[in-house]
Amino acid sequence: MYDLKGKVAIITGGASGMGKAASVLFAKAGANVVVADLNVKGGKDVAELASESGNKCIFQRTDVSDEGDVKAMVAAALENFGRLDITFNNAGIGGAVGPLEDIKVEDWDRTQHVCLRGVFLGIKHSVGPMRAVGGGAIVSTASIAGIDGYNGLHAYCAAKAGVVNLTRSASLEFAADKIRINCIAPGGVSTPIVYGGLANKDSVETMLLNAQPLHQVGQPEDIAEAALFLASDAAKFITGHTLVVDGGATAGAISTARRADQARAFSGQRAFAGPSFELG
Ligand SMILES: NC(=O)c1ccc[n+]([C@@H]2O[C@H](COP(=O)([O-])OP(=O)(O)OC[C@H]3O[C@@H](n4cnc5c(N)ncnc54)[C@H](O)[C@@H]3O)[C@@H](O)[C@H]2O)c1
Repeated sequence: MYDLKGKVAIITGGASGMGKAASVLFAKAGANVVVADLNVKGGKDVAELASESGNKCIFQRTDVSDEGDVKAMVAAALENFGRLDITFNNAGIGGAVGPLEDIKVEDWDRTQHVCLRGVFLGIKHSVGPMRAVGGGAIVSTASIAGIDGYNGLHAYCAAKAGVVNLTRSASLEFAADKIRINCIAPGGVSTPIVYGGLANKDSVETMLLNAQPLHQVGQPEDIAEAALFLASDAAKFITGHTLVVDGGATAGAISTARRADQARAFSGQRAFAGPSFELG
């Protein structure tokens, strides 16, 4: 396993899905973890679970779109653990879903605020403390929807494409400080953001299986492992990179046609998909 001994990590969206898996994995790898999320109950449970590794982990209630909350999140890492080495900007929502002409401006904005502004704020407030300890690693969760277009996911596609290119530009600015900045583009992964509130979970699962040539729905742990690699010193020569972890979904023509079915399934599902723990 990649080693994070002595490191301090913040993981946003840590209450559920990929962030939960990463909180547990990073703690097992030796890190003290700040689990940051809007979901208080889920986040506290994950902090407790991750602490079973023997490394202390805490929960900090955080709205990643709120600058005051993000400052407080970083302050919690410094106050409790004395340093910050790793930030995994992972919180996200599906946001405005459906035909472009029906998207309300406030739903468009909220999607950008959580999925893109949240990553900007995470980078903005992490780099100072990382510079102070001689470097660090920032990993953000983009999506294959930030690389290819998905009909019906316009706001999400735009926000995630923003994460991919902010990763590149920020990596240039902070390379001299030895702060590496990378992101992950997951394909379809089995988490509440995909299934929350959906009655037709099985048919969505089948669609994801068929869209991904490895014929697997990704598991949260698959993304956590990729995040651990990018956060660790094993990736010390990697920055500005988007690591695609998608079972081959974006590899070529056959998968492209299959993904069209997947996009159709998501379009028109609901007007706005907020945090998955509120979807029921
Ligand atoms: N599951 C997939 O198929 C998939 C594919 C590509 C990308 N992603 C991205 O992966 C990331 C993790 O999502 P997941 O699949 O684990 O879903 P999830 O819903 O299980 O986890 C997302 C977490 O983010 C939290 N969150 C939402 N809004 C927040 C806010 N404003 N501030 C703080 N926390 C907030 C939620 O409460 C939740 O705990 C997201 O950025 C998502 O867009 C998911």
